[in-house]
Amino acid sequence: MSSDERTFVMVKPDGVQRGLIGEIVSRFEERGLKLVGGKFIQIDQELAHDHYGEHEDKPFFDGLVEFITSGPVFAMVWEGADATRQVRSMVGETDPAESAPGTIRGDFGLDLGRNVIHASDHEDEGANEREIDLFFDEDELLDYERIDEAWLYE
Ligand code: RTP
Ligand code: MG
Repeated sequence: MSSDERTFVMVKPDGVQRGLIGEIVSRFEERGLKLVGGKFIQIDQELAHDHYGEHEDKPFFDGLVEFITSGPVFAMVWEGADATRQVRSMVGETDPAESAPGTIRGDFGLDLGRNVIHASDHEDEGANEREIDLFFDEDELLDYERIDEAWLYE
C-alpha cells in the first residue's frame, strides 16, 4: 500500500480556543502519520465559501461560515498509508454525540456545530487533494523521512 497519501486536517476555532492543538497533533504523530505542512491562519469569507461550498444550500451554511471565520484555525497536511480514511476514523462522526470515545470528536465534543476538527472526507473522491490545494502552495509541503519510518511500514 502506498504510504504517501496526503490528507487535509484543520483544528477549528473551538479547538484552538480550547487549547487542543497539541493534543490533536500528538494523536496523528503517535499513529505514525507524517506532518508535511502546517499553518495558523484566520479563514476569510472567500476561503470559507470555497472550502464549504458543497454545503451552500444547507440551512446551517451561514452559521458554519460565521463559525469557521470566527477565530484562528490550525491547518495541516498529514501523510501516510490510507491517510484520508485513517484520519477520518480517528476524527469520528460529524456529530460528537454520535462519535465513539477514543475518537477526537468523541473525546472532546458534545455539539454538532462545535466539533473541534475538520478532515477531508474519504468518501468524496479527490477531496483531500482539492482541500490541500485550497489551503497550501506546493512549496509549503515538505518532503522528508521520519526516522521511524522503517519501523512503521513492513
Ligand atoms: P467537516 O467537513 O467540518 O470536517 O465535517 P464533516 O465532514 O464531518 O460534516 P459535513 O457534512 O461536511 O458538515 C460540515 C460541518 O457542518 C456542520 N453541520 N451542521 N446542523 C446540521 O445539520 C449540520 N450538519 C453539519 C458540522 O459542524 C459539520 O462539521
Ligand atoms: Mg465535510
